[in-house]
Amino acid sequence: MENYINEEEAMNFHIAVIPGDGIGPEIVTQAKKVLDKVGEVYGHTFEYEELLMGGCSIDAYGEPLTDETLERAKKSDSVLLGAVGGNVGQSNWYQLPPDKRPEAGLLKIRKGLGLFCNLRPAVLFDELSGACPLKSELTEGGFDFVVTRELTGGLYFGERFTKEVDGQLQATDTLTYNETEIRRIAKWAFDIAMKRNKKVCSVDKANVLDSSRLWRKVVKEVSADYPEVEFSDMLVDNCAMQLVRDPKQFDVILTENMFGDILSDEASMVTGSIGMLSSASLGEGTLGLYEPSHGSAPDIAGKNKANPIATILSAAMMLKYSFNLLKESDAIENAVKASASGQQVHVVCKEETQMVLIAVIDHGIGMREEDIKKVTEPFYMVDKSRSRKAGGAGLGLALCTEIVKLHHARMKIKSRLGEGTTV
Ligand code: IPM
Ligand code: MG
Repeated sequence: MENYINEEEAMNFHIAVIPGDGIGPEIVTQAKKVLDKVGEVYGHTFEYEELLMGGCSIDAYGEPLTDETLERAKKSDSVLLGAVGGNVGQSNWYQLPPDKRPEAGLLKIRKGLGLFCNLRPAVLFDELSGACPLKSELTEGGFDFVVTRELTGGLYFGERFTKEVDGQLQATDTLTYNETEIRRIAKWAFDIAMKRNKKVCSVDKANVLDSSRLWRKVVKEVSADYPEVEFSDMLVDNCAMQLVRDPKQFDVILTENMFGDILSDEASMVTGSIGMLSSASLGEGTLGLYEPSHGSAPDIAGKNKANPIATILSAAMMLKYSFNLLKESDAIENAVKASASGQQVHVVCKEETQMVLIAVIDHGIGMREEDIKKVTEPFYMVDKSRSRKAGGAGLGLALCTEIVKLHHARMKIKSRLGEGTTV
């Protein structure tokens, strides 16, 4: 096996790992394997400290995130999270008061670590274009944008209460933003745009909400410091529509907490599979929290079916944003592109007199246990610094090759995006 170890660049990182609930432990295990492989190949050491958060912490300590666990997360170099929460209709965790439920742990760690900036990339992988629910002419050539979501303010953290008024229950949630909160997230969005395609679209509801009118004013001021960035405002209802009408128009979407929650789920849907999307939550320092955009999927937990790619890509974001290990992060992203078809793959064989016809169909709904190894193992083979083209052509093709070898045949490859590879 080749390695790229440079003794002087070798580093040591202490990662707080929060597997959480549901499929969390399974996907985090796979991401750790990838990190270990990166460490082995590039000479870094990643030490892991496992922490409890979510339902498993409720079971152990009676609360979703203890202060002690939060302190330990603060002392780490970065946090890798699987997912928290259970089945709302079935789990006892949801009989508890709202501030004691699994999700409250997530909100507490975001706030406690000061992670006000949430980045959710939405990338349409070529191999998954068939899974994208939009018409192919809208997505031809793929798309690649990022939702920059404010994460520690707005409705999520405003005062809330329920009381009786005039003989009936009345519930109140408050949406507050100050200039500092808006300015710091806006700067993040513009800085990110400078490293991408230099476009920021700020999303609000300024035709109705005061908080949005302040948002719009402050973001406009920040935009003046970035003359190279093409800047626009959009109302959130229009943005929801534009995401399915023409997702290619976006580069960086900047928005507040609640709108970002909703729009990022919509964005993930148009990429075809939420199982592929990573997320990073960042603050002022280098400490960040990295987690897949999807949830804990309790219905498939423990079956070894969960797709770990979103968590693996989140680990890649950790290398980039928290540890500044750019080529290492690229290696992971490249390897995932090479194996984007590392979803559940069906191989259909047809024997004819002269040849074996094999179609590989990517269902994008999960992974078989034996395939997970094939996705996590080839990572060390791919290094962007050596070649722009990834070293493998994906799990589908790897499977084909194996089958063709078994038949002592030669291969002719025809790759049809979204429909698999015919050999
Ligand atoms: C997310 C989730 C959380 C959120 C929930 C679980 C509290 O939906 O990370 O998008 O709303 O922020
Ligand atoms: Mg959400």
